[in-house]
Amino acid sequence: MKQRSIALLGCGTVGRGLVELIRKNRALIAERSGVDLTISKILVRDMGKDRGDVDRSLLTCRPEEVITNGSDVVVELIGGIEPARTFIARAIGEGKNVVTANKAVLAHSGAELFRAAAARNVRIGFEASVGGGIPIVRALTCGLVGDRILEISGIVNGTCNYILTRMAEEKLSFAQALAAAQKEGFAEADPSLDIDGIDAAQKLEILAELAFGLQLDPGRVRVQGIRDIDLEDLQSAEALGYVVKHVAIAKDLGRELDLRVHPAFLPKNHPLAHVRHEFNAVRLKGDAVGEMIFHGKGAGGSPTASAVLSDIIDLVKGDTGPVHLPEPVEKPVAPDIESEYYLRFPILDVPGVIGLIATALGNRGVSISHASATLVRGAPDKGSVKILAHRCRESVLRKSVDEIARLPVLTGKPVVLRILEEVT
Ligand code: NAP
Ligand code: HSE
Repeated sequence: MKQRSIALLGCGTVGRGLVELIRKNRALIAERSGVDLTISKILVRDMGKDRGDVDRSLLTCRPEEVITNGSDVVVELIGGIEPARTFIARAIGEGKNVVTANKAVLAHSGAELFRAAAARNVRIGFEASVGGGIPIVRALTCGLVGDRILEISGIVNGTCNYILTRMAEEKLSFAQALAAAQKEGFAEADPSLDIDGIDAAQKLEILAELAFGLQLDPGRVRVQGIRDIDLEDLQSAEALGYVVKHVAIAKDLGRELDLRVHPAFLPKNHPLAHVRHEFNAVRLKGDAVGEMIFHGKGAGGSPTASAVLSDIIDLVKGDTGPVHLPEPVEKPVAPDIESEYYLRFPILDVPGVIGLIATALGNRGVSISHASATLVRGAPDKGSVKILAHRCRESVLRKSVDEIARLPVLTGKPVVLRILEEVT
């Protein structure tokens, strides 16, 4: 039996999940892997915080006690860019293998950290950075190593999916659903990373790099979050036979990449429509294997700890090969896409308002497949017009929507959501 120790940077939702998982399954892990795993030290900010059953004698506020203490692997579970980046770089400099669940630091400084790791002949495991407990990094790098991946799509932010599910199914307000996601430990320390789509975009960059063998500069993904979505949009979706999901899509179009995360109307029979709460799903198409879908918990301490642990065991067993560093790629991201659209315009209930909106769309050739208005008796400023638009170019549609947004009858910001009939 190999005796191996790990040092943790961070003991929050995921850190505590990992401590608990090792305590609960230490004998099972040893039996399966031949590795008896112990925790040598844990870095925290606040020594006084209640951490349940975590052995308090392991806690420290001094990073050097964790990074340079002779452990076999340093596990970064702090989140964000700094000081996580500096701590990972120092651990690599000490010749340590590193495991991280931190997609933000990988999206921001991944290339630099992977280069440093290659130079020191150590590895960075990052299974938990995408899809929580779903072993999607391993699937792309090992299980599907023989496949050319043609496209990848999915739901990769547990917080957004949890919020949209609870709003749609229990009629919670956006604020109530977000507070519940935070209480469950699904959201990032700064939840705007979740609800503004940034976390999903960082994960999509990682997936696209693995799937297409690219190294992307940060910020290449077209991003739309769920902040503007209202109960009214979810109810309209339901009435029209759709559900609203926050989706992530990556396609290599040859000369261009299509990389985007955004909320979308999905038909109720779409494979991603059934992914609920904090679950994630990644759907991919390989040239040999065909279509596959991976489904599992995408956030939460215990599922994420499961993914972190798989990296730790790989690293201490020395099962993994040398780091592969793809070349940076200059491919542009497609500037425009075609889609069907759902539009909601908050309006003043005055004669001719629907005609004004229809004319602004029609003038640019945007054709309407459905229109309805919700008007509140005695509250003319609480009306809204909802439209489904036939397939059109987004750039054209946006010009019409911008023109409508300037009309004096508009009482709020228009909501524009793509309709995915099928992710192809
Ligand atoms: P969290 O609950 O906020 O925990 C962060 C931990 O890091 C806390 O223990 C905190 O110490 C410590 N910490 C923060 N700043 C520090 C600093 N400057 N110096 C020392 N310690 C510091 O975060 P989390 O939810 O566990 O997430 C950790 C990472 O996993 C993030 O990268 C996140 O994106 C990723 N992830 C999270 C989930 C999830 O479901 N939560 C799922 C997948 C991936 P104190 O406890 O003393 O404040
Ligand atoms: N905040 C992230 C999410 C955690 O909700 O998906 C998992 O990466």
